[in-house]
Amino acid sequence: MNTKKFSIINIKELVGILPNKKLVLRGNEMNNISTIENAFIKIKDGIIEDFGLMRDFQINDKYSVFDAKGKIVLPSWNDSHTHLVFAGTREKEFIDRINGLSYEEIASRGGGILNSANLLEITSEDDLFSSSSKRLDEVMKMGTGAIEIKSGYGLSLDGELKMLRVIKRLQESYDLSIRSTFLGAHALPKKYKNNKALYLNLIINEMLPNIKEEGLADYIDIFCETNYFSVEDMQKVIEAGHKYGLKPKVHVNQFTSIGGIQKAIEWNAISVDHLEVMNENDFKSLTNSNTIATLLPSCSFFIDIPYAPARKLITKNIPFALASDYNPGSSPSGNMNLVNALAAIKMKISPKAAINASTINGAYAMELADKTGSITIGKWANINISSEINSYGFMPYSFGQNHIEKSMIKGTWIN
Ligand code: NIG
Ligand code: FE
Repeated sequence: MNTKKFSIINIKELVGILPNKKLVLRGNEMNNISTIENAFIKIKDGIIEDFGLMRDFQINDKYSVFDAKGKIVLPSWNDSHTHLVFAGTREKEFIDRINGLSYEEIASRGGGILNSANLLEITSEDDLFSSSSKRLDEVMKMGTGAIEIKSGYGLSLDGELKMLRVIKRLQESYDLSIRSTFLGAHALPKKYKNNKALYLNLIINEMLPNIKEEGLADYIDIFCETNYFSVEDMQKVIEAGHKYGLKPKVHVNQFTSIGGIQKAIEWNAISVDHLEVMNENDFKSLTNSNTIATLLPSCSFFIDIPYAPARKLITKNIPFALASDYNPGSSPSGNMNLVNALAAIKMKISPKAAINASTINGAYAMELADKTGSITIGKWANINISSEINSYGFMPYSFGQNHIEKSMIKGTWIN
């Protein structure tokens, strides 16, 4: 944490102000965003110390001053769903999809997640750490200030531990907060093709105890989907994770609705992620729960599947976060600026709702909302400063561009 004192002054608009008790936004709250025009913000010891109107700003020699004339200041993006640690890339499958194969067809031919698992097996922990660091540096430059990263390309005891140790090394090497999720149940490895029970035993009886012993994960995940893992499998995996203190954050309803949402809610999941395919019962279950939805529009864009029904979630008072799903198969981009643009353009939500979903609600989906996600006195100084633009709406409007000019994480400038 940086012990320096900063004042950022002449801010054109300070965006995303919330009272400290407000940890998640839902329904109509998502369509509103509190801002101050012509504002200042003061930062001390990595924490937001004060903010307000420029006319109330008092100069103090001990604070270094950054002039943000013509610029917007907003909370950092909180990317609550990524697979940022991976080995190699999958451009060949990209071409196969361009030529007409679907994501699921590629997977059923042994490509997809299993392809990434093969690449991971032959990659050393050091190489994995180095490629992952580069990706993390990149997304931080684009405004991400806290992130969740999953395992799930190991699919063996050694492979999963290798991935999770890389995540741990990233946690130790960076100021930004990283949440770690164990996703052993991402796909059934070839070796266990005809014996899923044996693979689930490996997850439950070998992977989990080792992960616990080394303190490698905060959450447990499973890809609950037709042709991957069933609701019954989910029950087993979540129950086992629970014994080791891991809360569920799960992949559900990407291609089919098979009851994963209900099972996750039963276990008080922190979040249910994807939700491209939803039925009325799924909405009903979420309305009556504490679980937040996490929507991944860049995945829908890249593999050309339906977008999650964001507007309907707002109508039903169900809170949601937006995340990048950064991974080599379904979303080879961790650019949260693009995620915001796609959410506005394709899910038809307002820039205000997109910013709320990518800041405070993203923090909530990582249980970090008391520390980041809004402009609030006492929270980490995790903030983004835009280039000179007319309004914050210009950011998703000018899709494909990145108007985050400078970012600060816990009081330290990162660019
Ligand atoms: O969230 N759907 C499951 N897992 C990832 C994709 C993983 C991959 O294709 O490598 C996702 O989209
Ligand atoms: Fe994912």
